[in-house]
This record gives sequence, structure tokens and C-alpha cells, in this order.
Amino acid sequence: MKILILGSGARESALAWMYSKSKIISGLYTAPGNAGTHEIGANIDIDPMDFESVIRCCKEKHINYVFVGPEAPLVEGIVDILKEEKITAIGPSKKAAQLEGSKTFSKDFMVAHHIPTAASEEFSDYESFKSYVESRQGMLVIKKNGLAAGKGVLESDNTSRLLEFGENILKEDSLLVEEFLTGYEISIFALCDGNNFIILPPCSDFKKALDGDTGLNTGGMGSICPNPWVNAELKEQIKREIIEPTFTGLKKDGLIYKGILYFGLMITQNGPKNLEFNVRFGDPETQVLLPMIKTDFGNITTAIVNGTLDTIPITESSQSAVGVVVASKGYPGQYKKGVKVQPIPELPSKDVLIFHASTTIDEEGEVFTGGGRCFSVVGLGKDTIEAASRAYKHIDVINFEGAWYRKDIGKKFFIDED
Ligand code: AMP
Ligand code: GLY
Repeated sequence: MKILILGSGARESALAWMYSKSKIISGLYTAPGNAGTHEIGANIDIDPMDFESVIRCCKEKHINYVFVGPEAPLVEGIVDILKEEKITAIGPSKKAAQLEGSKTFSKDFMVAHHIPTAASEEFSDYESFKSYVESRQGMLVIKKNGLAAGKGVLESDNTSRLLEFGENILKEDSLLVEEFLTGYEISIFALCDGNNFIILPPCSDFKKALDGDTGLNTGGMGSICPNPWVNAELKEQIKREIIEPTFTGLKKDGLIYKGILYFGLMITQNGPKNLEFNVRFGDPETQVLLPMIKTDFGNITTAIVNGTLDTIPITESSQSAVGVVVASKGYPGQYKKGVKVQPIPELPSKDVLIFHASTTIDEEGEVFTGGGRCFSVVGLGKDTIEAASRAYKHIDVINFEGAWYRKDIGKKFFIDED
């Protein structure tokens, strides 16, 4: 089976690594990929948003399945367009991808299907938005309706900041004002074949730039899997109150969903609430989630396509994984690209994995940074503590000018482990 992964991040590196272990994959391509995926399979220099080139590549290389990593091509309808060409892609239709592509669509869906979420109001004109915000006190959350690459949400209790943020959004889009929820966040990924679904081990990511969850928001500076705070009872509650009603709702609304659905949950004192859906795997969660799955990912992919997820047992690892992101100097603000990365030595331990993000490789084999988040270093161990210590023990094999990382990934979850 030949597979083409679309994307260039560490999420796609982890997917390529996972497929490279599959017994049924005979061809592995990543477009555009990075220096890490170049080592594992073949990179193809195509922008995932250039659908015509993707189609051409699939035909030339006789690709069986396209795995779409990032959200933008999904929201633009790549799955439908490939389907017209009889090419099978893993991911939702354009219509179903609105669960991520439109915050108002997703909120209306949650309300219609009684899925616990934050109370919210939708606005498309500044005057009514302003009078609503001025009538409220305390923390509020503002969300841009459309995709915003992680920059569309503001949590604040400062009225003038909220008004300024909302006014800018309303120049081009509508928005939601949400109640501010407190608790801890988890990311749950479910695989769906259009009929059956499977829930994967719970993850958490660390979105803030600095230790102690302080500083600016980032795409994610680290991740853990499984989250040790999520016990069997909470898992069951999440399944019953959020995941089952979501898949039942999708069917009721005629939205056939074959792919990955990501539930961004806040575990509050009043139970789990769904903050958001994403229609893809998370980054940096995928880097810690996939090493926890023992089942051949080629077989899982085939089952998603064929609607037979109910027939393959998914075996989970008994280990834990902690992933630490190594970022460019200046990230999440301005940063330089093309910084030379020192050769990465072969690691002595099988309990550490390194996933590249957006790196490039030249003809001499020299590797250069290509983004803000450059590598994920993942430690595996018997629990979160051991996994974190292994990731941090080896992280300094990643060396480039200005490289930095958070020193406390996983730490807030250590205390309750036995
Ligand atoms: P979203 O894109 O909706 O997941 O929002 C991005 C991040 O903003 C979430 O991961 C949370 O950290 C935060 N957030 C979103 N909605 C809320 C809310 N209603 N209450 C508190 N924090 C929120
Ligand atoms: N980890 C957050 C995301 O993938 O959107």
C-alpha cells in the first residue's frame, strides 16, 4: 500500500514514523515533508493547498491513501476534491470540516446535540458586540469564527482589550463571546470510519511559551500521553456525554465522518466541556499519542477507509510518553529560519524519539531550521515522570543557535501518579 502524508510538521514526522513501522506499507511519501521525513520515506515538494499538484502526484505514484495532516486543506475541501478523482483521503468532507473551520457552526452543532460546552453569544456587528461586552464583568473569551492558525482566541477581563480584539475580527469575520471556563485541558482523539469510532488514550498539550504555563500562547511547547489524571470513570463520562452524542449528531445531520476527530476538552468542576473540535490530529499531541499505539497504523488506516474499525483491536502501550518542543529564538514572535542544525548523533536509547518540524536538508546533508517549532523530543517510560526525565536527558542532542525549550513539560501531572 502506498501512502502520501500531507504536511511538514512534527505531527507529520510522527505519522511517517508510524507508517514506516507498518507491515503493509510499500511506499511512503510526505509532501512537502521535512528533513526527518526525508530520512524515512520520500519527500515531494508540493504545497498541500495546491490540490491539482496533489492529484497529479497521487496518479503518478499510484497512491492508495492520502493522509491529510493539517486543517487548512481539509477545511478547503481536499477530501471531496480527491474523491471526485477517485483518490481516497483520510479526513472529513468539507461540510464536516466546518466543525473546525467555523466556530459558530461547531457551537450550533454542540448546542443542537446537547454536547456540554461553554455558553456563548455570536456577533457580526460591532455595536451589539460592544454593548454585550460592556454589560459583562470578569473573564470572557472571544473567538474568531474562521480559521486563525492559533491566533483567533483571546481570554481576558480587560474590556478595552476585548473590544479591540473583537473590533479587528469583525472587520472580516463574525465572532463568538464565550463564558470563561476553568479546570484543566485534555485533548481526546477519536478515529471514525463513518459508523464506528475508537477513542485513543487521552493527551494534554502545553500551550504557553514559558514554564509554569506562563507567557504567550504558542502552537504547543510540549505534550503528554496518557494524561494520568484521566481515570476510567472520567473516560466513561467523556464518552457518554461528549463523544457518543457527537458521532450520533454527525450521523443525524448527514455528515459522514471518516477520519480523526479531536475534542479539545476542559475538565471543569461541573464535568467535561468541549471547548472545540479539530478535524485532524493535534500537534504536539500526535508525537506522544502515536508511540502509545501498538497496532499497525496501515491496518488502522485501511479500517477507517473500509468502515471496519469495529473489527481491529487497538492495542495501547502500557508506557507513557512526554514530548518537549525545541523552538527557534524569538518564537512565538519573530524568528529566523534557515539556522544550521548541528548533526544529531544516533541516540543510545530506544526510549527517546526525535521528530523534525519544517526542517530542510541540503545536498550535503546539512539540516536547517524552517519554522518556529523545530523538533519534538519524545521520551518513553513507565510513567510520566520517567518519560519526561528521558526526554530531558537527551534533549541537548538538538543544537542550533538560539534553540530553547520549556523545562517543565509534564511536571504538573507528576504529583498524582503512584
Ligand atoms: P480553541 O481554539 O477554541 O480551543 O481555543 C484555544 C484555547 O483557548 C483553548 O485551548 C483554551 O486554552 C482557551 N479557551 C478556549 N475557550 C475557552 C473557554 N471558554 N474558557 C477558557 N479557556 C478557553
Ligand atoms: N495542540 C493543539 C492543536 O493541534 O490544535
